[in-house]
Amino acid sequence: MKDKLIVFDTTMRDGEQSPGASMTKEEKLRIARQLERMRVDVIEAGFAASSPGDFDAVRAVAGVIKDSTVCSLARANDRDISRAAEAIKPAQQGRIHTFIATSPIHMEKKLRMTPEQVLTEAVNAVRFARKFTDDVEFSPEDAGRSDVDFLCRVLEAVIREGASTVNIPDTVGYTMPEQFGSLIRNLRERVPNSDKVVWSVHCHNDLGLAVANSLAAVMNGARQVECTVNGLGERAGNASLEEIVMAVRTRQDVFPCDTRLDATHIVPASRLVSGITGFPVQPNKAIVGANAFAHEAGIHQDGVLKSRETYEIMRAQDVGWSANKLVLGKHSGRNAFKQRMKELGIELESDDAYNKAFQRFKDLADKKHEIFDEDLHALVSDGADAATAERWRLVSMQQESGTSKRPHAKIVLSEEGSERPAVSEGDGPVDAACKAISEVTKSSAKLMHYEIRAVTSGTEAMGEVAVQLSSQGRNVTGRGASTDVIEASAKAYIDGLNKLAHIGRSRKSGGS
Ligand code: KIV
Ligand code: ZN
Repeated sequence: MKDKLIVFDTTMRDGEQSPGASMTKEEKLRIARQLERMRVDVIEAGFAASSPGDFDAVRAVAGVIKDSTVCSLARANDRDISRAAEAIKPAQQGRIHTFIATSPIHMEKKLRMTPEQVLTEAVNAVRFARKFTDDVEFSPEDAGRSDVDFLCRVLEAVIREGASTVNIPDTVGYTMPEQFGSLIRNLRERVPNSDKVVWSVHCHNDLGLAVANSLAAVMNGARQVECTVNGLGERAGNASLEEIVMAVRTRQDVFPCDTRLDATHIVPASRLVSGITGFPVQPNKAIVGANAFAHEAGIHQDGVLKSRETYEIMRAQDVGWSANKLVLGKHSGRNAFKQRMKELGIELESDDAYNKAFQRFKDLADKKHEIFDEDLHALVSDGADAATAERWRLVSMQQESGTSKRPHAKIVLSEEGSERPAVSEGDGPVDAACKAISEVTKSSAKLMHYEIRAVTSGTEAMGEVAVQLSSQGRNVTGRGASTDVIEASAKAYIDGLNKLAHIGRSRKSGGS
């Protein structure tokens, strides 16, 4: 029997810490459901004490997820730990993950604490967290640059206090694979009570080594890996879930363990996270990039046709690539639509949400002959949160642009039943449309980032736009999809403004 390798996903906590990747509660719920479907063992849903919004999201995820442990991060203090405990209360299996930095530079410059003080705080934190749950994880932040003797003392002490998982983070992505592997082996050998816990690793990708370091740790006894979908995360990101899972699975001749993951949900998860955050996946990204299973060179194509294994070490369908097939058409009914969504792992919260998505599908089918799986993913990303956030809706738009004409747009939005028109010029048609929208909505939100991509190939493809808007210290991502890229841009802009308005209303009513 092989050991079990626990997959701990932190897309919604460390991943969300990427600038511009903030997620709403509804978005987190959609990701959490997909992670559960994929059979991820532990879902770190957020950092409950960091904001009321994060608290709500962790609590909501804890309330719906049954088959994965739901975890909240907490600094090593009573307030953070109490908030985390409160947020994970509804979970069938809940975990508190508490951390404090142990490297000389972090202790001296950031915490302004002596090593002895840090040791005391770590022990107190684990003791306090154990009052709420038996499932307590402890991380010595920046372990990769910490003194090993000191790490051993801290880890022995927190294990004695009842931590059930100790997680070794390479917080700044500094270590080399051999070095990190030896660190894990060393710690396991030297900490006297090391056999009482699961050893975990959490690697960042600053030198592009997060996956290599994680795998080196697994070869040296780590039995939990912390990772994110698409490698999302602080700075250069975290170790990518799909790469770790498929490396371990593909090389079972090398690894002494395996995960329980259903890998066929990997590509849908990647699409979902990319759609929600607006962070595109590079085409040559392992496993989930558009070219990961494409063969261009004649010799390769010839080889694959003769025997797939000549150039492929995994099967595309095993990681969830469906053959980009024509799924539905103009005449498809509601049941066929719902069934295909289910097959793609897309679950919507309510019948109302299905009805709205179905209506968008019909509108799209009128404009576009062939509707692919990618189109369906884009369709649900576009306006999936409308039920909670729709103050303004696009009624109509016309825009004109040309080589010798200054672009201008005429737009009509509906706001609480009444129609509001505006006309504006701009530097381009997208600029003109967004300026007209700002005029109607009287918004002063700043556009921080604009991203557009074609959902499928061909000039008739849907364009998917993600915009990041910022207002009064809140950042949101708005999304829109349409075969008309100006309309997709306008819809994304309106979606972002709706989210900001929703946050503003919740704040006034005392919510998040
Ligand atoms: O990178 C890091 O050290 C972390 C810890 C909180 C585990 O994210
Ligand atoms: Zn991290």
